[in-house]
Amino acid sequence: MNHLLSLRDIDTSTWHALLEDAERLQGRRGIGPLPLAGRRFGMLMMNPSLRTRTSFEIACYDLGAHCVSLQPGAGLWDLETRDDVVMDGGAAEHVREAVGVLGRMVDALGVRAFAGLVDAQADLREPVLTAIARASSVPILNLESAVDHPHQGLADALTVRRRFGGRRVRVVIRWAPHVKPLPMAVPNAALYAFAREGHDVVVARPPECALDESVMASASELARAAGGTVTTHDDLERSTEGAHVVYAKSWGSAGLYGEPDANSAFLADHRSWIVDAAAMAAARPDAAFMHCLPVRRGLVVTPDVLESPTSLIFEQAAARLDVQKATLCHVVGAAVAPAAGAAPQASEETTC
Ligand code: CP
Repeated sequence: MNHLLSLRDIDTSTWHALLEDAERLQGRRGIGPLPLAGRRFGMLMMNPSLRTRTSFEIACYDLGAHCVSLQPGAGLWDLETRDDVVMDGGAAEHVREAVGVLGRMVDALGVRAFAGLVDAQADLREPVLTAIARASSVPILNLESAVDHPHQGLADALTVRRRFGGRRVRVVIRWAPHVKPLPMAVPNAALYAFAREGHDVVVARPPECALDESVMASASELARAAGGTVTTHDDLERSTEGAHVVYAKSWGSAGLYGEPDANSAFLADHRSWIVDAAAMAAARPDAAFMHCLPVRRGLVVTPDVLESPTSLIFEQAAARLDVQKATLCHVVGAAVAPAAGAAPQASEETTC
């Protein structure tokens, strides 16, 4: 089954093919060869979304496919994801039946299922995404799960390629404060993505917010294979020094899951990690600011940085559409031909 579940697992040739196809599909809007004509896709969204949902739907439309969007609990039965439970609670249908049915109607299914943020080890096992992938007879695309957000990572890698012309740069993934603990899917995905690109990636965070050791180890391995590095930094003052890219993101401290008071106290103590002009001034003069959005102004980043000429937030969001088109083609094995009128290239079609 051609699932796309994690950036950790896909092979290097697929990684590069997806990014190259994303470039070829940029701006493709219902004209020229439509690689997904007659295809049907579904989107199972357990959590809210603006960018992911829009890019999935619009990508389907632009490439000739139809998309149906489903939200459990909102016009759709609440779904049970655990095995071996008596379903005497709120959920009316099990994902085994729901996904079994959808697999007879769609060619692939996108799934969003955030982390529980109760048990970090349980989150690492991806219980919901795994249950759905096991039950599915069609490819599953991860639209942000407990510990990965592959489409965000792909879009971020593409954005940095475009901004820096594909050269190796220093990317600082910098933890930022928030009012509540957030999942680690985005920082994990950014780490995998920039490591795969062979950049020098620094994860700057308070010690309490270290990413999981297995994630760091996998990212280091990916970076080594691509000629890059992965390091950590917990010195706020110096964390952005020499950075070409400052990538801000909030995420929770696994040690504080289930302890709201301790978490509030921790966050109050770390408000100074906001990305502001001083943090950007320590980076290189042309340093880019990145954030996957949504973002809380004045808490995660100051408005002047968010709106500065080197902020890439809208480029990242726009790239979501390009990479989403590429992954939709990939999971169903649709060939991506050049757009009508495009100059012939050495390779007319890729496997994606
Ligand atoms: N960055 C991102 O995934 O945005 P949404 O949560 O709005 O989809």
